Amino acid sequence: MLILGLETSCDETSAAVLNDGKLQSMVVRTQEIHTIYGGVVPEVASRQHILQISDIAATAIQRAEINGTDLDAIAVTYGAGLMGALLVGLNFAKGLSLGWNIPFLGVNHMEGHLSANFIDNPNFDYPFLCLLVSGGHTQIWKVTEFGKYELMGQTRDDAAGEAFDKGARVLGLNYPGGPEIERTAADGDRSKYGFTMPVVRGAELDFSFSGVKTALLYKVQKMTREQISNNLHHICASYQEIIIDTLLDRMNKAIKRSGIKRVAVAGGVAANTRFREKAADIVRKNQIEIHFPALKYCTDNAAMIAMAGYERMKNGETSALDLTAVPNLSLAG
Ligand code: KG4
Ligand code: ZN
Repeated sequence: MLILGLETSCDETSAAVLNDGKLQSMVVRTQEIHTIYGGVVPEVASRQHILQISDIAATAIQRAEINGTDLDAIAVTYGAGLMGALLVGLNFAKGLSLGWNIPFLGVNHMEGHLSANFIDNPNFDYPFLCLLVSGGHTQIWKVTEFGKYELMGQTRDDAAGEAFDKGARVLGLNYPGGPEIERTAADGDRSKYGFTMPVVRGAELDFSFSGVKTALLYKVQKMTREQISNNLHHICASYQEIIIDTLLDRMNKAIKRSGIKRVAVAGGVAANTRFREKAADIVRKNQIEIHFPALKYCTDNAAMIAMAGYERMKNGETSALDLTAVPNLSLAG
């Protein structure tokens, strides 16, 4: 089955071609324009998607060395994400579906992130826990089979990616904050600035990152400009460390509680090298498996959407033309 995947939920315009679960091509264009605003401006994102989507889909098809008319189906993100941005991809997919007379399927963006683990690991086994850490979500899911999700823990306020983004803004760094903080933290002392690990009373698998961000703000407010700039790498390293330690702490607790020793990490924060290193350490010391998608499949891309679409469409699932975008779509259905 030859599938065209499309992703336009936020600030990446992406298309990919997947043949029977094997990736043939992937094109991702990040909208750099948002950097000047310090965050994604929804209206600007939609307009950029409109300008780019046709060219990006054509490039993905060309790089897969096929013709559009060879495609069997289209998989497209229909939520969660920004309404206007989602509508561009969804309506483009509907147009292609009508024009080429092939079915399309609306894909849940979060199921896409989770499915990124299958791109290089087609035999990834169930059951597993999924630690979903993106710009808008921080959740732990128990996955017993494809499409069956049970929520074990989630953030009460900011997502982990959001904590990186907001922290970067406090420190005068660019958007997106995760890669910026990671880069700046590279040779920093991780223990120089102690941050307290946030706990949610009575819900040991839940997260809360807004307090850490506020603690960072208070620390920085007490420092002079010079102190901040001389210690920026230490501040970033300490801040990054507490976010990662919190994620791994909840993951370990979820493993203990569920007895499931296989974990798939997904979402943009999974691209963090320090996070991957610390998780690898845990794997070495314990009898557990932790999988991270390849770096290029961690942040938003259409390959993961095509993969999730493939898993569903091989069972005959398709969407109707009246499918609409759902900005707050959850994995729980
Ligand atoms: O999954 P994603 O690409 O988009 C959403 O669906 O939200 O995740 C974007 C988030 C941003 O908050 C960004 O700062 C974070 O992932 N991120 C990182 C890294 N790369 C991206 N966070 C930490 N370290 C990174 N290397
Ligand atoms: Zn995402």
